[in-house]
Amino acid sequence: MIFDVETCPVAGLDCPAEVLVTGASSGIGYALLQQLLENRHVGRVFAVSRSATTKVALGELQRDHGERLQRIDADITNEDDLARLAHATQGVDALHLVINAAGILHGDALAPEKSIEQASRSTFERVFAINAFAPLLLAKVLLPQLCRGQPAVFASLSARVGSIGDNRAGGWYAYRASKAAQNQLMKTFAIEWKRRNPLGTCLLLHPGTVNTPLSAPFQSKVPAERLFDPQRAATQLLKIIAGSTAKDSGRFIGWDGNEIPW
Ligand SMILES: NC(=O)c1ccc[n+]([C@@H]2O[C@H](COP(=O)([O-])OP(=O)(O)OC[C@H]3O[C@@H](n4cnc5c(N)ncnc54)[C@H](OP(=O)(O)O)[C@@H]3O)[C@@H](O)[C@H]2O)c1
Repeated sequence: MIFDVETCPVAGLDCPAEVLVTGASSGIGYALLQQLLENRHVGRVFAVSRSATTKVALGELQRDHGERLQRIDADITNEDDLARLAHATQGVDALHLVINAAGILHGDALAPEKSIEQASRSTFERVFAINAFAPLLLAKVLLPQLCRGQPAVFASLSARVGSIGDNRAGGWYAYRASKAAQNQLMKTFAIEWKRRNPLGTCLLLHPGTVNTPLSAPFQSKVPAERLFDPQRAATQLLKIIAGSTAKDSGRFIGWDGNEIPW
C-alpha cells in the first residue's frame, strides 16, 4: 500500500511540491521519503538527519532519483545546523511540504521512565531538545520559504501518549511531556502562521504504533493488527496531509483521521 502517485500531497497546489522531510534516515521518515519520491506531483525532496549522507539506503534512493533527492546532514537540536539547513534549501523559492519525523524515545543511556525515581533533568533536556524544541526551531528557520502566498503544509509527528486528556497509564514522563510541549508550541505556531500565510496548514500527527527502531523495545503487548509497518503508516499520514487544508491548521490528528484530545 503506497500513497497514490497521482494525488498531490499538498491540496490546492498548482506547481511541483518542494518537500523537506526530517528523520529521513529511519522508520516512518524513510518510508515517507520513499513514497514522496514516487509521487508525480513532487519536485525536489530534502532528506534530513544526522546521517543522511552516510546511510546506505538513502544512497540507493539517490541513485534512483538523482538530483530530486538532496541529502542534508543536520542535528536539528543544534541551531548552527538549523541555520546551515535553511541555507541549503535556499535554492527553492518556496517549500510546500515539511514533515518533521525526527524524534527519540530511547537511546544511549536513555530509557523511558517507569517511575518518578527514574526522572532526571538531563533526560528531560535531551528528550525535549529533539521532540519539543526542534520542530518549532525548524519552522522558524524555514519560515521565509513557508510564507510565499502558496499552499504549504508543516506536519510534525507527535504521539497519542503526549495527550494529557488521554493519559491513563502514566510513566514515560519525558517522552509524554515533550510531545505535549511540542503540541502547544506548534499550535501556537499555527496561529501565527495563519496571519503570515493564510494558505499554511500546520498539523500534529499521531502515526499509530509503527514497527521502527523507536518502538522496537516496546512492542510485546501491541496486537499484530495494531502494529503498522512503516510504509502503511506513511501512506496513512500522507492521506491525512493531502486531505487537509488551512481550515485544519492547528489540529492534533491520529492515523485514522480522528481528532486526539490535547
Ligand atoms: N514508531 C512509533 O510507534 C511511533 C509512535 C508515535 C509517534 N512516533 C513518532 O514518530 C517520529 C518518527 O519515529 P520513528 O518510529 O520513525 O523513529 P526512528 O525510526 O527511530 O527514526 C527517528 C529519526 O529521527 C532522526 N533523529 C533523531 N535525533 C535527531 C537529531 N537530533 N537531529 C536530526 N535527526 C534526528 C533519526 O536520524 P539520525 O539518527 O540519522 O539523526 C531518525 O531518522 C518520532 O517523532 C516519534 O516520536 C513514532
